[in-house]
Amino acid sequence: MKPVKVGLLGLGTVGTGVVRIVEGHQEDLSSQVGSPIIIEKIAVKNSDKTRSINVDKDKLTEDPWEVICDPEIDVIVEVMGGIDHTKEYILEALERGKHIVTANKDLMALHGSEILAKAQEKQCDVFYEASVAGGIPIIRTLIEGFSSDRILKIMGIVNGTTNFILTKMSQEGASYEAVLEEAQRLGYAEADPTSDVEGLDAARKMAILGTLGFRTNVELKDVSVRGISQVSKEDIMYAKNLGYEMKLLGIAEREDDHVSIGVQPTMVRKGHPIASVNGVFNAVYVYGEAVGETMFYGAGAGEMPTATSVVADLVAVIKNLKLGVNGLKAIVPYKAKKLKSDDQ
Ligand code: HSE
Repeated sequence: MKPVKVGLLGLGTVGTGVVRIVEGHQEDLSSQVGSPIIIEKIAVKNSDKTRSINVDKDKLTEDPWEVICDPEIDVIVEVMGGIDHTKEYILEALERGKHIVTANKDLMALHGSEILAKAQEKQCDVFYEASVAGGIPIIRTLIEGFSSDRILKIMGIVNGTTNFILTKMSQEGASYEAVLEEAQRLGYAEADPTSDVEGLDAARKMAILGTLGFRTNVELKDVSVRGISQVSKEDIMYAKNLGYEMKLLGIAEREDDHVSIGVQPTMVRKGHPIASVNGVFNAVYVYGEAVGETMFYGAGAGEMPTATSVVADLVAVIKNLKLGVNGLKAIVPYKAKKLKSDDQ
């Protein structure tokens, strides 16, 4: 059994989790895909950094192109984040016939259609389950689980950092600044937490969910956004006294050929399942015409939950490799017709 060789871009929180799972679950993973999975090379910012896992120093490089251009590597796992440079790496990797697994919602929300078009041209897979809601397999669920239905509404708590902040403010009366610092320390927040607290991270995830769930092409500019930086402890207490929890909620709705998507702090009635989603947990509520109400819950950020989704995608890519069907089962409804958004 020829091993499948993987190039890893990034060895931060999620990359570390990916190495832990690929090594720790190697026996089980390789029996599922029929060959050993080897992490061949890892691009890092600083190869001398002390790390919480043991990695063979010879595998580390500070030059991502060394990973992209290695002819031995079959699959690139991108967990380094960033947009413009990362897009260049991914497009070149696809050009070279490598399959991609990415956790990068910014990249997929902004450049998903271009990347997926290139993947199709090259018959490569691009899987991005970890880009939305960390450990919850929501992308696969929207595409496969709901293929028989017509989704009318998606509501999501899809940013763990802001849910962590709002929960601690609500339950402990903690200050916004102190909890944000804690979220950063725990590795939940983005490098620049502005995109978390101002709702942009959630908006990007909702654009991906709307695109996949409504089988259309939602552009980020069509998503209205308001974050939590203006929400005070008093607002939260006021809501609580009235029987509501304050949540940063993404709401995507479709009616006929019209779609509206927005992210904003929302008072959710206690008793609604979304109101009791606390801490770094995420939840996605999906209402389908036939199925009615469903809800999916789990950790939305953090090392191991996010890595679980990344490695599940890796397994899917390798299974496709074995079947010779890469690029045929791609997660690509981006070409579907554009529904009208609120802005039009
Ligand atoms: N900063 C993101 C969050 C990480 O807090 O949800 C996972 O996408």
